[in-house]
Amino acid sequence: MTKKTAVSFRLNDRPVDVLVEPRELLIHTLRERLETTGPHIGCETSHCGACTVDLDGMSVKSCTVLTVQCENSHVLTIEGFAKGGQLHALQEAFMQEHGLQCGFCTPGMITRAYRLLQENPSPTEEEIRYWMSGNLCRCTGYQNIVKAIQYAAAKLRGEIVETSHPMMAEVTA
Ligand code: FES
Ligand code: FES
Repeated sequence: MTKKTAVSFRLNDRPVDVLVEPRELLIHTLRERLETTGPHIGCETSHCGACTVDLDGMSVKSCTVLTVQCENSHVLTIEGFAKGGQLHALQEAFMQEHGLQCGFCTPGMITRAYRLLQENPSPTEEEIRYWMSGNLCRCTGYQNIVKAIQYAAAKLRGEIVETSHPMMAEVTA
């Protein structure tokens, strides 16, 4: 039997301790041990981006990261975006601009876009498309995904104050 290793890191601002085999992938630890099922498994071969999380300020595909590599790190997943009952601007934007259909790719899309806007608050459409090119949408809603990221960028820059989507009132009520 393979010896297990204790790993401690922060997940969405809370400390977690897990006991894992050295070969265990972060996506499996998140989903199967830590009840963090926002990051999805689409391909497990680093192609689709459904498993994207933010690891110490970098976008990573968590199907290509070993959990033991996360010791003392901070992992941000889609579960960590909404604060105090308020959706993050990116979550609001995907709703506002219809940036999802089935939603399978959405947690990874939002997490990847978050890192883009941290590094470049005013990306051009070309920069958005380039940055997001490692995240695939099987429903092929790319046009609205780009529009959602542009909307979130404007919102985070303070250029949009009110949201017109009728469901937002219910979500934030
Ligand atoms: Fe990780 Fe597809 S499941 S990139
Ligand atoms: Fe269905 Fe992207 S919304 S895979």
